[in-house]
Amino acid sequence: MDFTFFFPTRLVFGQGKFSLLGEETARLGRRALLVTYPPRSLARVVAQAQELLARHEVEVTLFAEAAPNPTHHTVDRGAELARQAGCDVVIGLGGGSAMDVAKAIAVAAPENAGIWSIYEGRPISAPSLPVVAVPTTAGTGSEATFYTVISNPELRRKEGFARPQFFPKVSIIDPLLTLSLPPRITAETGMDTLTHAVEAYTSRLASPVSDLLAAEAIRLVGLYLRRAVADGGDLEARTQMLLANTLAGIAITHADTCLAHVIGEAVGAVFDTPHGLSVTLALPAVMEYNCLSNPGKYAGITRLLGAGEGLSERDAALQSPGLVRSLIADIRLPAGLAAIGVAESDEVTALVNRPGMDASNPRPADAKAFELLIRGSLSPSMSYWQFGGV
Ligand SMILES: [Fe+2]
Repeated sequence: MDFTFFFPTRLVFGQGKFSLLGEETARLGRRALLVTYPPRSLARVVAQAQELLARHEVEVTLFAEAAPNPTHHTVDRGAELARQAGCDVVIGLGGGSAMDVAKAIAVAAPENAGIWSIYEGRPISAPSLPVVAVPTTAGTGSEATFYTVISNPELRRKEGFARPQFFPKVSIIDPLLTLSLPPRITAETGMDTLTHAVEAYTSRLASPVSDLLAAEAIRLVGLYLRRAVADGGDLEARTQMLLANTLAGIAITHADTCLAHVIGEAVGAVFDTPHGLSVTLALPAVMEYNCLSNPGKYAGITRLLGAGEGLSERDAALQSPGLVRSLIADIRLPAGLAAIGVAESDEVTALVNRPGMDASNPRPADAKAFELLIRGSLSPSMSYWQFGGV
């Protein structure tokens, strides 16, 4: 029951709130580095952002290189640009990669050091630049976390790093920005949100406060993800999914993620698969592995997803992985990692099977458990239980 809860980010949530970007940024600095994707995908929103910032006399330097699965090289190039341009605030506009790169640049630029050396333990001594985060997907929750997920292609690693300096100062969270997301990205990012919520809810680090946030996020995804995928213009579904995303982000900041993220990030590092999809396809097997270690929580997940009425706690808990598999099928995502080119790989096994990787997971995992979990995530006809796992 012991916990501390600290959350320093100002959340500005609501339809049309993107129009406050200039005003909110001008309070923090006069020269902004605007971090986003290569221009084509977000051209209209980037142009709007530039106009909103100009109206409040904020000078903008554009850094449109935050591609999916961003590397430490991208962060270091952005930090160099921020130093050269004398930027005093960093804006991350886009999905998780744009926000994560912005957060990492804000630490690396004043530090005048490569971001990977900071990840490896170099102390942060210079004050970091303030960050304004503006999500355009309802997925990673990066606008509400102190994580960045950055890849190191030389070391074949992709991991989340936590530092208090990574909290954005302000996040502008506007559902109108998510209306144009195609169904597949809506599905993948929405399932990343569910994975955050389920993992925070069941984590060993869960607290009464993170439970409230995670439980509500599970409930909202259960009610609204199918709708957001079926009709991208469903503004109520988009709004509720973006809320779920932010709530789940705050929850993982306090309770961490568990083995679906450990496996999904290792798969992403080796096979360069999208984050949301990799963690989603690992989630059902991880739930099968975990559910009897904390039946109360897993029965809770079943009930938050609108099922399990009249069932015993044990039976409701055992139903929860199947409900997630049904959701994955309904939103037309592939049912296993094999369908996105992932095969059994010693490299993935080596990345997950390191000391402490199961620290937050409700059930300890050894090498054999990891092997079965990865095999159980590969194909829809495989499950952790079918491999004889208990
Ligand atoms: Fe995630």
